Amino acid sequence: MTTSTTPALAIAATGLRKAYGDKTVLDGIDLAVPEGTIFSMLGPNGAGKTTAVKILSTFISADAGDLRVGGHDLAADPQSVRAMIGVTGQFSAVDGLITGEENMLLMADLHHLSRHEGRRASAELLERFDLTEAAGKPAVTYSGGMKRRLDLAMTLVGSPRVIFLDEPTTGLDPRSRHNMWGIIRELVSDGVTVFLTTQYLEEADQLADHIAVLHEGKIAALGTADELKRLVPGGHVRLRFSDPAAYEAAALTLGEVTRDDESLSLQIPSDGSQRELRAILDRLDSAAIEADVLTLHTPDLDDVFFALTGADRRAEQPADQSAARSAAQPKETVR
Ligand SMILES: Nc1ncnc2c1ncn2[C@@H]1O[C@H](COP(=O)(O)OP(=O)(O)O)[C@@H](O)[C@H]1O
Ligand SMILES: [Mg+2]
Repeated sequence: MTTSTTPALAIAATGLRKAYGDKTVLDGIDLAVPEGTIFSMLGPNGAGKTTAVKILSTFISADAGDLRVGGHDLAADPQSVRAMIGVTGQFSAVDGLITGEENMLLMADLHHLSRHEGRRASAELLERFDLTEAAGKPAVTYSGGMKRRLDLAMTLVGSPRVIFLDEPTTGLDPRSRHNMWGIIRELVSDGVTVFLTTQYLEEADQLADHIAVLHEGKIAALGTADELKRLVPGGHVRLRFSDPAAYEAAALTLGEVTRDDESLSLQIPSDGSQRELRAILDRLDSAAIEADVLTLHTPDLDDVFFALTGADRRAEQPADQSAARSAAQPKETVR
């Protein structure tokens, strides 16, 4: 494999399709995840992320598609795939009634490690995930972040080369989330491939080498965070006034602006370059108009996501159930 100049693919899918009854969840998607990278599948609740993870980790079968993980065909050789992957799902494998260490040793048994090997691997992983102190306590007493860390530590007992993380930080507080991000980055520095699903744009932006936006069963966009950001022109300059006369004068002087009469704000499309900013300021100066506040907005992943899905950025969905449907409905975007 090392002779090839193109990186080997840890995950390769073509025409992946899955329907439940007459509801098509994955409508023929293609994925290519190079070894040693983090790939993020981004989508709201109900988009089909867990379905994709379950299929690629051999828990359920696809209706169609040529699917390979680590070069092994999922349909023909699921055993080889299982031997090289680890999955940490939304539903934890942690048994709350036994201690963290006992959970780890159980995993070691499942992977047929010797007693000695099992204890060594368990101690090392508990240490690495900052769980040594809590190792003797029942897992039910752990915080959400600790449970996620234990879950991931358990996944790593089998030394998987490809790890599926299904919404690893959903429901975690910001500190635990950042902590988990650090852990995920570390995994990849060891050459492991991570397939990560998330509802959080920031998470994909922070972690992923490549991002796929899943929308209505299809991949609405695919690329690096920067590539995706270039897809939308969302950049603009915003000028705010307290004096209605200055506001009116500026609107007249600048011409092509979007007005917000209520907040006395003007929005001017801009790539954020020095040249464009200077042009705006020069025109205001020559008309002796002074804005109270000038802000520059450069496109971020939110813009991409909402441009692609037509969702309203202000419709923050709660972390559960059916809100995704309504959030995905096209609405007028006022930014
Ligand atoms: N076993 C199942 N039977 C019927 N419908 C299902 C099943 N599993 C998932 N779905 C439906 O498939 C869609 C995608 O679900 P899922 O993959 O869990 O989305 P996500 O993980 O992105 O929230 C949802 O509409 C869900 O209701
Ligand atoms: Mg899910």
